Amino acid sequence: MATTTLPIEQETNPWIAAESRFDEAAARLKLDDGMCKVLRSPSKEITVHIPVQLDDGRLEVFTGYRVQHSIARGPAKGGIRFGPDVTLDEVRALASWMTWKCAVVNIPFGGAKGGVVCDPNLLSDGELERITRRYTAELMDFLGPERDVPAPDVNTNDRVMAWIMDTYSMHSRHTVTAVVTGKPMELGGSRGRVEATGRGCTIVTLKALKKFAMDPASTSVVIQGFGNVGGMAAKLMARRGFKIAAIIEYYGAAYNPHGIDIAALMEHRKETGSILGFSGAEDMDSSEAMFLECDVLLPAAVENVITSRNADRIRAKILCEGANGPTTSAADEILTGKKIFVIPDILANAGGVTVSYFEWVQDRQGFFWNEQLVNTRLEEIMTESFDAVVSYAEKHKVNNRTAAYMLALDRVASAIKLRGIYA
Ligand SMILES: NC(=O)c1ccc[n+]([C@@H]2O[C@H](COP(=O)([O-])OP(=O)(O)OC[C@H]3O[C@@H](n4cnc5c(N)ncnc54)[C@H](O)[C@@H]3O)[C@@H](O)[C@H]2O)c1
Repeated sequence: MATTTLPIEQETNPWIAAESRFDEAAARLKLDDGMCKVLRSPSKEITVHIPVQLDDGRLEVFTGYRVQHSIARGPAKGGIRFGPDVTLDEVRALASWMTWKCAVVNIPFGGAKGGVVCDPNLLSDGELERITRRYTAELMDFLGPERDVPAPDVNTNDRVMAWIMDTYSMHSRHTVTAVVTGKPMELGGSRGRVEATGRGCTIVTLKALKKFAMDPASTSVVIQGFGNVGGMAAKLMARRGFKIAAIIEYYGAAYNPHGIDIAALMEHRKETGSILGFSGAEDMDSSEAMFLECDVLLPAAVENVITSRNADRIRAKILCEGANGPTTSAADEILTGKKIFVIPDILANAGGVTVSYFEWVQDRQGFFWNEQLVNTRLEEIMTESFDAVVSYAEKHKVNNRTAAYMLALDRVASAIKLRGIYA
């Protein structure tokens, strides 16, 4: 689909982004129309209207969704987000993304996503807990370690996962830790989960450097977002000798072309609440910092930051997409034209879902791995997946994103063909 002429609201619509990448990969794979219809359609969309008593005694009704896009390769897997602007369209698009992401890293899951329309900033802890528990209870027949395994996403965290696990377990009459991932360590969480996505980004970036015979010590990195993914990637990359030249937050950026001391910047933010005013870097305007000349640009904040309106200003050799959907499909063409080596989100940030898979495995075994084993196995999967995507791209003469989608669609389509269609 030619998306370059789309108005920006459409260009940044997640459903359009997912469709456009799907269409290109499906056409190149020459998938037949019937298979395309199956892969394009979510297998289940569940909408629930959940009554919840607020702290002041009023009764409110919240709308929640769970979309299971595919269960062809295993149980559905994907996060649950809370937010005032959650829509079924968005949840549906993100569910299909999860199917492709799990297939790219070849873990035995399908894809799902969930959301509840609510504003967590306006709700008390008790209200959030009651929403979570009732949402889980309504979805009882659809969730489960063998059916659908949620995880945290925007505005949900390990505490919300603990409530889901407890509610599910109360209904099951026994403790079922494997029903969700991203749980607290005390309740069956995995070692290494907090660092997993940033670690995955670091592993695939090191692979890209090796490909181009580049050395971390002379590699400059600009990171947008200093939260879980960006913060961990910055910490781990700095440890491997990369020069972290800029860290960008929504309110400003810290810049030092000789490399920022990440541990000291984290300490500074802990003390002051901001990355600005740090003695080891200059303050910079956040809207300009993304366009600094660098070897690696790692967007790890929000979606749609690289669009057809600004992609020509990117001056990086490698784009490692830590965030989900940081690049619109219209911007893809521009980045390809500029010969930027893109490590697409469904590969670059798959370290998180990979360690979620390890968490699910450990919960089912009731046997927990040490952190070194988690990290070694993560490295194996990220390395194999990077090699698979890059060799697929070279073989089929397509960019890495199209290659990742082709690989994923091919794997899911093969699973469907092998299983056959149950009539
Ligand atoms: N946490 C994971 O394991 C994981 C896994 C896969 C993908 N992701 C994706 O990575 C992205 C970041 O997730 P996270 O868990 O690190 O979130 P987070 O909330 O921990 O961190 C996000 C950071 O980005 C900053 N930020 C927000 N808007 C910004 C903007 N416009 N410009 C610059 N900085 C901005 C925030 O202040 C925050 O520091 C999201 O797209 C998420 O879906 C996360």
